[in-house]
Amino acid sequence: MKSNERHQRRSAAIRKTMDAVSRTMAQPHSVDVIDTAKEYLIELAKRAELFPYEDFPIPEKRNETLYKVYSDKNGQNALYVYVTKSGGVYRPHDHGKAWAIIAGVRGYERHYFYERKEGDATDGPAELVNKGSVVVGPGKATSFMIRGIHSIEHINHQPFLHLHCYGYEFEQQDTRLEYDQDNGIAVYSNDVGRIIDMPLSDE
Ligand SMILES: [Fe+2]
Repeated sequence: MKSNERHQRRSAAIRKTMDAVSRTMAQPHSVDVIDTAKEYLIELAKRAELFPYEDFPIPEKRNETLYKVYSDKNGQNALYVYVTKSGGVYRPHDHGKAWAIIAGVRGYERHYFYERKEGDATDGPAELVNKGSVVVGPGKATSFMIRGIHSIEHINHQPFLHLHCYGYEFEQQDTRLEYDQDNGIAVYSNDVGRIIDMPLSDE
């Protein structure tokens, strides 16, 4: 497939998926609602031919890049293509006011989930309880609600490409909390790395 044709097809597939995700997530949130949205993302993630590294290059010098491919006009329902070179570890964090769905296209990463023992979603002393983990790989996804806490471990030191979908674009996840478990403390963080805009083709 030529790259121009692929861009057209990918754009159509992303629009269709994000339309369905936006409509679904406009309902009152529940596990069933986000699971339905997750299925739409999985269907898109299964179309690996639309997301080659040729179109989403892994950075030479950095370990990772987020390509922003979609958000609605209010910066809600944002979709990113996340590529990374090799094994990284991200300490526990939430995504501020955004829910999240992460669907694998190629490569694997393990997500660990946590609950905060006490206190609201603010900075300061914080202890976490481990709530298990899942592996996200091709055709598999995970999700969490607003203020869900996860950490990430890349498990086989291979490059990977996954789809990250959030209730709000990163710039609006301005109350993200990161958890320093060694010191038992939560801190606000808006360090989200490098984001490259990659607009869809015209309709
Ligand atoms: Fe995250």
